[in-house]
Amino acid sequence: MRLLLNALLTTMATSRVGRVGIIGGGVGGCSAAKTISNALGSAVEVTVYEIGRGPGGRAATRRTREFPTLHVNHGAPTAQIVTEEGRKAIEAAGGEEVKGGHGTLNSSTGEFQEEEEGGWLFVGEGGVMGNLAASLIEGTGANVKTKYNSMVRGLERAANGDDGSWILRNGAGEILGEADWLVVAGSGVAHPRWTATFGNEPPLVEAAKALGDSQLDSSLKAIASQTASPVIAVFFVLSGSEAQRWLDLPFKVAKIEGNEVLGKVMIQRTGEEGYEVAVVLHSSRAFAETNKGVYGSTSSAKRVGGAKSDKGKEDELNAMMLEALAEIPQIPEVPMTCKYGPVLHRWGNAFVVGEGLSRENSMCRDAKVAFCGDYVETDAPLSSIECALLAGKQTGEAIVKEIKGGA
Ligand SMILES: Cc1cc2nc3c(=O)[nH]c(=O)nc-3n(C[C@H](O)[C@H](O)[C@H](O)COP(=O)(O)OP(=O)(O)OC[C@H]3O[C@@H](n4cnc5c(N)ncnc54)[C@H](O)[C@@H]3O)c2cc1C
Ligand SMILES: *[C@@H]1O[C@H](CO)[C@@H](O)[C@H](O)[C@H]1NC(C)=O
Repeated sequence: MRLLLNALLTTMATSRVGRVGIIGGGVGGCSAAKTISNALGSAVEVTVYEIGRGPGGRAATRRTREFPTLHVNHGAPTAQIVTEEGRKAIEAAGGEEVKGGHGTLNSSTGEFQEEEEGGWLFVGEGGVMGNLAASLIEGTGANVKTKYNSMVRGLERAANGDDGSWILRNGAGEILGEADWLVVAGSGVAHPRWTATFGNEPPLVEAAKALGDSQLDSSLKAIASQTASPVIAVFFVLSGSEAQRWLDLPFKVAKIEGNEVLGKVMIQRTGEEGYEVAVVLHSSRAFAETNKGVYGSTSSAKRVGGAKSDKGKEDELNAMMLEALAEIPQIPEVPMTCKYGPVLHRWGNAFVVGEGLSRENSMCRDAKVAFCGDYVETDAPLSSIECALLAGKQTGEAIVKEIKGGA
């Protein structure tokens, strides 16, 4: 009798569809979703929870209601790929290779120096960086669901032996979903910086206290030792002869050397009449550090998380970045009125600083938590699109193995 019951229970457990909840729809989370969905098909149900209106995360593209076809890559402008595996992955995601126009700009002379080819440079399909994450989950089929405008604010593991599910909640404490496996694809819910913004303990840290899983604890400790460096982005859109002056410059993406305020300038051809060029400025790290705490009024943290923004301070930073740009010789004047912008966007955690979470600690089998994203160790440099792509693949494969092994 007992044996029979056990056999029955085992069959029930194995025939059930595995549920994977991915927190974060950036390149890392989407790469994991794709890997898991492709390998397991209808034996798995993947749900991606994302604060933003769509996928992309830091490899994002801004769109606007006024100009429906305008797109501005205001996060990562390109992905520099150094591994063969990364190249395959980015090509499979519709990444397009770009050549020329990448290098450094001397801010006191305005001289541009083309960079020696080191690795391969890519953008998303059609030059739209946001397409990279999107194309990873497009065509994955019905077993991948996406929940946008959904911020996970609470996590707990239902106490039900090995079969306990992860429960994901929103800010109001309502259940967003349940999962057997949790994939943390953006370290926010696991990192102490959560507390600085929202006051309470990071949701996964809170949940881990109740679990007492030593491996999860050590993963969280490693994540807590990482820090992040911010970038302030400002972009504006031009048309006609004003746009042409920027297209005549010898570069598309230039690191700015010797400037206290600016770190990078990017000139993007939109291909759309009426707003042909988008110019994006990225601040230096030091400038963003000294002006911490100023969010763009449109940032996700402000919109969903309720973080404060200060319009006056924002305008001041915006003006300072444009002034610094105007001081660089040979750079065209920014007209008093642009087609769109200048708009400021603050990336509070643009780059990961510290040591990557080890491959071993990116998979906590007993706690049924896995980590992926540009803060996890791969063959690519930390804090890059390539790293996020590879970490998603690596963590996705580890989960596939677990779900298959359990069956
Ligand atoms: C200004 C800037 C310039 C950059 N330049 C380059 C470059 O030149 N080359 C390069 O390779 N890389 C660059 N990067 C880095 C690159 O963008 C990232 O390494 C990569 O996009 C990280 O992907 P990810 O999936 O790991 O993380 P993310 O893209 O950050 O994805 C995490 C996602 O999780 C979501 N999320 C977080 N918390 C929650 C929650 N509680 N609930 C639901 N969703 C949540 C976030 O909204 C986000 O979409 C740049 C980044 C920035 C910001
Ligand atoms: C910029 O060019 C000037 C003149 O050639 C040079 O003296 C200076 O060192 C350069 N600055 C940087 C940061 O390379």
